[in-house]
Amino acid sequence: MQGDGRGSGTLVTGGSGLLGLNWALARRRTGRVVLGMHRRTVRIDGCEVAEVRLDRAGEFAECLCRLRPAWVLHAAGLADVERCEADPARAFEDNVGLASNVAQACADEGVHLVHVSTDHLFDGSRALVSEDEPMRPLNEYGRTKAEAESRLLAACPGALVVRRISSVGGLRGADPSATSSSTRDEGSSP
Ligand SMILES: NC(=O)c1ccc[n+]([C@@H]2O[C@H](COP(=O)([O-])OP(=O)(O)OC[C@H]3O[C@@H](n4cnc5c(N)ncnc54)[C@H](OP(=O)(O)O)[C@@H]3O)[C@@H](O)[C@H]2O)c1
Repeated sequence: MQGDGRGSGTLVTGGSGLLGLNWALARRRTGRVVLGMHRRTVRIDGCEVAEVRLDRAGEFAECLCRLRPAWVLHAAGLADVERCEADPARAFEDNVGLASNVAQACADEGVHLVHVSTDHLFDGSRALVSEDEPMRPLNEYGRTKAEAESRLLAACPGALVVRRISSVGGLRGADPSATSSSTRDEGSSP
């Protein structure tokens, strides 16, 4: 089923994670934000919370039909480099499998997709590289993120891939509105 373009706001997969939660804290005053939850549930003022299933494209497509976001920010995955190295099958499932499913569902439902990737795609031999630089990952995390990008863009060619370099910081003190210095309010879309 194709989307009708009448959705609103952003559904964040990995809404309980470091990146997804910080993004939501930075953007919740600028529009509708739905935090997609998996095992953990986190609630913050100004954001909706919804359980999302990313294990199958069809199930995630049903979530999109139910929640009707205009955008999906895909920030779910296995970001722990050591755990990826120790368990390549799980790294593949969480980083490649979920991204492929999310991309297929977004393409099928006509929802805009932003995918969070990483500088681990490259071997670090050069300080600055272009978007077209061939990927040379040195670890399992980087290899799965490289494969995720390829499959995601094949399934959803209009997706935006953001290759983040620095880590998002944690919450400061007990103030839930505090955000890291690397997340800022900007514009009206992800
Ligand atoms: N942090 C950064 O600055 C940074 C930099 C570059 C790239 N990235 C990318 O951004 C993404 C998130 O990184 P992060 O640092 O925020 O990691 P994180 O804190 O470990 O969060 C991972 C998120 O993914 C969710 N998740 C894991 N498996 C899932 C599944 N099968 N279905 C649905 N949700 C699932 C987790 O939910 P549960 O815990 O409830 O399972 C959690 O919300 C990763 O893809 C990473 O490669 C992050």
